[in-house]
Amino acid sequence: MIVERLPPVRTTLRPTNHPYLNGAWTPLLEEVNATDLDVIEGAIPSDIDGIYVRNTENPVHHALGRYHPFDGDGMLHTISFQNGRASYRNRFIRTRGFEAEQEAGQSLWGGLMDGPGVSLRPGFGCHGGMKDAASTDVVVHAGKIVSTFYQCGEAYGLDPETMEQLGVASWGPLDGVSAHTKVDEATGELLFFNYSKYAPYMHYGVVDRSGKLVHYVPIPLPGPRLPHDMAFTTNYSILNDLPLFWDAELLKKGIHASRYHPDMPSRFGVIPRRGATSDVRWFEAAPTYILHFLNAYEEGDEIVMDAYFQENPVPRPLADAPDGFSHMMAFLDEHSFKPRLHRWRFNLKTGETREAHLDERTLEFGMINQRYAGKPYRYGYSTTSKPGWFLFNGFVKHDLQTGESWSITLPEGRYASEAPFAPRIGAKDEDDGYLVSFIIDENKGASECVLIDCKRFEDGPVVRIALPHKISSGTHSVWADRAFIRAGVAPG
Ligand SMILES: [Fe+2]
Repeated sequence: MIVERLPPVRTTLRPTNHPYLNGAWTPLLEEVNATDLDVIEGAIPSDIDGIYVRNTENPVHHALGRYHPFDGDGMLHTISFQNGRASYRNRFIRTRGFEAEQEAGQSLWGGLMDGPGVSLRPGFGCHGGMKDAASTDVVVHAGKIVSTFYQCGEAYGLDPETMEQLGVASWGPLDGVSAHTKVDEATGELLFFNYSKYAPYMHYGVVDRSGKLVHYVPIPLPGPRLPHDMAFTTNYSILNDLPLFWDAELLKKGIHASRYHPDMPSRFGVIPRRGATSDVRWFEAAPTYILHFLNAYEEGDEIVMDAYFQENPVPRPLADAPDGFSHMMAFLDEHSFKPRLHRWRFNLKTGETREAHLDERTLEFGMINQRYAGKPYRYGYSTTSKPGWFLFNGFVKHDLQTGESWSITLPEGRYASEAPFAPRIGAKDEDDGYLVSFIIDENKGASECVLIDCKRFEDGPVVRIALPHKISSGTHSVWADRAFIRAGVAPG
């Protein structure tokens, strides 16, 4: 392995007992390029050609107020596979906020858990007082990495091969872009939404495969909402109005506290991909909150949508949490809010909704073969998490046709990242490929990348590749085939 280290960033981080600034969440501050990565075990397959990108949160400055892991500075990590060899790069995303704090040599903005007045400058996002760290989500669109922030911000581009910073995407509207933009590899389009505290409270847009904003419409909602993700089929996009949102009275006083309304239904807005505001059809369903959708598709008169239905969207403070962290830790603990893989069927003829759990286990952060996004599909891959912690400790593969499932549980101290599916070159079957995940090994103080053959799911990784440093845990990730990166649309 050949490692080139970049000049260090300015940091004012101090030692702390914060549970999400230690262990597998210890911020990584160095940026490197590493080629010819060493294999720990197995062999790097030569039948994949593409790049895995992961977003993680790594604060470089001591927090002004109370730190939440979603406040951290966005860092992207890539591992590139070609001809049985692998290389790795990682970079902080140079957002306007990151650059301003580098110049100032300190934090300038408070975070998610801070009240008004903590920030030293006007803030970004629908919260209004935060730094846009582009640290939540990542996709590849029009040949570029696109990184976004869950509170709505600017979409930042990086070159997937070189990690050169490409700055703010020109297609982003002034109202911002939420995390979980969706890329339809079949058309090369990017679908997105945003949300805010001001009427109409949501917009929906489409960016074409050349990176041009070609559609942008208001989606009026009854008030400010907190949507996190969306779904799409070949012909429709599905937006949501869920009964967990900022308390309207507290919001008038500048306090951003979320409240669950179990007496209100969940509402899902189905809009043709380039439809008008008046085309949105709303379907009502059981109350819940959803962080992430798995996939959706059309079947006869119905739209079928799979996502993770939270049984307990407002969990009680986490017992046994360190002092002062019980509330924050409960909202980061899947075993507290209990997401269940769930299927909704929206009948476009009758307006009716049918829904049911597909699995009773606590699962989230699902992935599919992206060639089946928006289309009928058979296989989904979810993560499991360590009770009490936002740390992934395994994977479950579902055959949604037969109901069969297979699982992997990592040994204590080894934590995974969200693991997208990398199709084998020339694959015919939907599950002919690998799950790609980074692993943080707390026992060894090191990180590696593993590939899991999805046709032999429980056999263990086909390869373990050493990374040049121990990374931090984080949130989202994406796999992009090199052919898709170059063409901007899936071949064939
Ligand atoms: Fe997310």
